[in-house]
Amino acid sequence: MEKEFLSEKTFNIKDITVSASCPSNIALIKYWGKYSRQIPANPSISYTLNHCRTNTTLEFSSGGHFSVQTFLSGNEELKFADKIEKYFRSIEPYLPWILQGQYIIRTENTFPHSSGIASSASGFGAIAKCLMEVDDAFSGERGIEYKMKKASFLARLGSGSACRSLFEGLVVWGNTSEVDGSSDLFAVRYPDSEVHPVFRDFNDWVLLIHEGEKSVSSTVGHGLMNTNPYAQRRFQEAHENFTLLKEILRNGDMEGFIKLVEHEALTLHAMMMMSEPAFILMKTGTLAVINKIWEFRKSTGLPLFFTLDAGANVHLLFPNNGTEGLIKEFIEAELLQHTQNNGVVKDVMTFL
Ligand code: PMV
Repeated sequence: MEKEFLSEKTFNIKDITVSASCPSNIALIKYWGKYSRQIPANPSISYTLNHCRTNTTLEFSSGGHFSVQTFLSGNEELKFADKIEKYFRSIEPYLPWILQGQYIIRTENTFPHSSGIASSASGFGAIAKCLMEVDDAFSGERGIEYKMKKASFLARLGSGSACRSLFEGLVVWGNTSEVDGSSDLFAVRYPDSEVHPVFRDFNDWVLLIHEGEKSVSSTVGHGLMNTNPYAQRRFQEAHENFTLLKEILRNGDMEGFIKLVEHEALTLHAMMMMSEPAFILMKTGTLAVINKIWEFRKSTGLPLFFTLDAGANVHLLFPNNGTEGLIKEFIEAELLQHTQNNGVVKDVMTFL
């Protein structure tokens, strides 16, 4: 219920500076397609990354006209400020103090700005965490659990996938009968006890195939699902994949995991190709890398596989189970050449 996040009482508005850090995430079952107010058309699940993060400091000066100034790595960003201003206006019912002052927001990503790695997830995650710090200071503390849940709820209203970044490990967003407590309004952590150890220490090396802006934004992409004739089948399949994935995670079925995760990535891009108008975010390098991964797996049997987000970059996934040395050698020797500037961001997802 959205009601639990509404807030009426506000005390003690004052000048305050808060800081927060939030990681990025990569989805295994993808969110693609939504209804109004960022309600997802299907449930999704992601790994939260360890190293790719956004660090944000928010300075609030109380009183005066509402205004927002934003800086990314020290440079003023006017477009981002507009976006945040709109966002703050949209969440006033949940944070009644939010328009009563001026903001300076300084933000830095630990990954290269031009990399094409989604900064909106970690960015909105960090801002939502900052807002909940301020809310605590003004309205009194209500416990860490409520705070993280509301931060996830607020992050979702900024960028859907951001709501998953508030939690570590495997994180679910969207109502599914497969996960207790799951909700369309905020994300929840997938229970660790249901995850085989082989899935709790994973690498995600992001090959930067194409750096810079993508040709079609995810907002436009989500919108095109409204008229995509395959959309309903896709949403249903995401639910079916949750049922499959639950069993795979419990059993440690690596082969099943690889098949499901790659299928989800290709389905996401297939949906783009079947939109009207159609669009393709993969590049030549993306396809070359996918084919080489498949050949490598066929000839060695080693668990190297991929997922994609809404862009050309390839997320190379492989477990730390003793085979990672050979896989890393292969990546350096064979796959790096398909990146634009030898670009690779090496991250891990570890929750032992
Ligand atoms: O949160 P958005 O609106 O940027 O959408 C992200 C969608 C994908 O990254 C393609 C998939 C996902 O679930 O993260």
